[in-house]
Order: sequence, then structure tokens, then C-alpha cells
Amino acid sequence: MKFAGSDQYIATPDLMLAVNAAATLQRPLLIKGEPGTGKTMLAEEVAASLGMPLLQWHIKSTTKAQQGLYEYDAVSRLRDSQLAGIEGAEKVREINNYIVKGVLWQAFEADRPVVLLIDEIDKADIEFPNDLLREIDRMEFYVYETRQLIKAKHRPLVFITSNNEKELPDAFLRRCFFHYIKFPDPATMQSIVDVHFPGLKKELLAAALKTFFEVRNLPGLKKKPSTSELLDWLKLLVAEDIPTETLATQDASVSVPPLVGALLKNEQDLTLFEKLVFMQRHNR
Ligand SMILES: Nc1ncnc2c1ncn2[C@@H]1O[C@H](COP(=O)(O)OP(=O)(O)OP(=O)(O)O)[C@@H](O)[C@H]1O
Ligand SMILES: [Mg+2]
Repeated sequence: MKFAGSDQYIATPDLMLAVNAAATLQRPLLIKGEPGTGKTMLAEEVAASLGMPLLQWHIKSTTKAQQGLYEYDAVSRLRDSQLAGIEGAEKVREINNYIVKGVLWQAFEADRPVVLLIDEIDKADIEFPNDLLREIDRMEFYVYETRQLIKAKHRPLVFITSNNEKELPDAFLRRCFFHYIKFPDPATMQSIVDVHFPGLKKELLAAALKTFFEVRNLPGLKKKPSTSELLDWLKLLVAEDIPTETLATQDASVSVPPLVGALLKNEQDLTLFEKLVFMQRHNR
């Protein structure tokens, strides 16, 4: 079982190496990288290309580790016990009817190895990763209500993504293999665009990529545009049928590109960019 990219997803050699290393070590792969650099998509593509089912757990600020294991629905049980007649009492007595399995449990009881994505782990509070140490290490947990030990039938291939909003605890990091998805270089970016827009005119693509990297490399930008924003922008350029000339002016001077709202997402960056264009025009 080796991951070698897919025809939907461009994986650089070091990314493939990281995926396979994590699989060999049987440790979760912790992926960081700027927003929109394909962290979430990686897990989806690995699952698809290795033919494994994908289980996703999207973390929010309110998510608790326990929810990934199971939740005991005491409220429903109490309500049922008050409303149920004789025949309903049977259901109420069986506590298993009120245990709701979480994503980790589903991954543990699956009949074949699955890919488990724990997306945006840094959104949860600081205790969250620590609360999952044992489950990730030993691949087992205990259900106190039913006195059951749940052990993984097969070790899932775990992907954990983070946008770096919070530091992760050392004890947690020790258990992971780490990979940082570097922002794609122009050649890689070209291949990524080719995957999404196979029929794009070469001149338009070249001009758009040049403008994109110029915008990205502006010193002092608050938020640099990412891969997914470039793709959005290209989609608009194609949909609006923007001529290549508007992007690539003859004298190679900078101009504010059309539909720049797809790339720059706050007024400070926009002002900065407009100022730069203005200065370049006057320096000529
Ligand atoms: N290497 C790649 N190959 C193909 N498409 C890519 C690649 N990287 C990014 N994309 C495109 O960018 C989009 C965003 O990717 P994804 O949602 O995985 O980013 P992310 O890193 O999870 O971002 P966030 O941190 O905001 O969740 C994808 O839907 C895909 O279209
Ligand atoms: Mg994501």
C-alpha cells in the first residue's frame, strides 16, 4: 500500500514520502500548511486512491474528545422511561440503545482499515489532543456505561490537520509524524491548475500565474492568497471571458487585476496593492 498521488491531487515527492512514512510507523500524520493548500483534500485523496473508506471528524471550538468515542444519551432514556408502556420498557432497560457511537468508534469497529481524518484539531480547546493520547496510542477505549473495552480491529490511517491557531502539546506531537505542506512553487502550481482546468489557454494561464505570484509576493500582505483562491480566480477569469491582454500588459507594468476580490480579502491589502500599482506607474 503506497500513496503516489492521484489524477485529482498533485502530491509533491516529500508529501508522498510523509504519507507513506506515517503509514509505516503506524502513527497519525499531522499536516500543517497555509489555508487552502490541500490538507483536507489529502486525506480524501489518499482514501480514494488506496480504496479505503474515509471517516471524517471536523473539529469545532466546542468539540470534546469524548464525542469522537461515544455519547450517552441520558435525556432520551429518561424521556422514554417516562413515556414508555410495558413494551417500551424493554428498550429503556437496554443501555446500548442510548449509546451513540462517535467517529473513532466507527473507525475501530470497521471490518477493514479506514482512513480517519481529524480535521482542524487546533480549533478545539487545549485539552482536546491530550484527551485522545491513549486512544491514538493504544487504539482502544473503555465504555463506562456498558463496561466494554472497544479495541480497533484494524489500525486506521489517521490524518490530523492544523492551521496553527493553537500550539499542540508535546506529548501529542511525540505520537505523530509531522509534515508541513509548503506553498507550491510555480511549476507545482501549474500542475495543480492543469488538474482543475485541463483546457485552459496557455497564455492566459501564464499571465494569471505571473500576476498571482506577484500579488502573493507583495511584502506586507496581511493575508496571502492561496491555491484555492487562485483556482477561484481562474474560474472567474474563464467564466467572464477576460482577455489575456488585461492581465499581461505589453510594457510589463503592474495593474490591478480584474476580479481581484478573489485573491485579496481585506481592504488593507487592496490599498497596499493599489498604492504599489500607482507608484510603479509614476516611476516609469
Ligand atoms: N495539491 C493539490 N492538488 C489539487 N488541488 C489542490 C491541491 N492543493 C489544493 N487544491 C485545491 O484547493 C482546494 C482547497 O484544498 P483544501 O480544502 O484541502 O485546503 P486546506 O489546506 O484543508 O484548507 P483549510 O486550512 O482552509 O481547511 C481543494 O478543493 C483543491 O481544489
Ligand atoms: Mg481543510
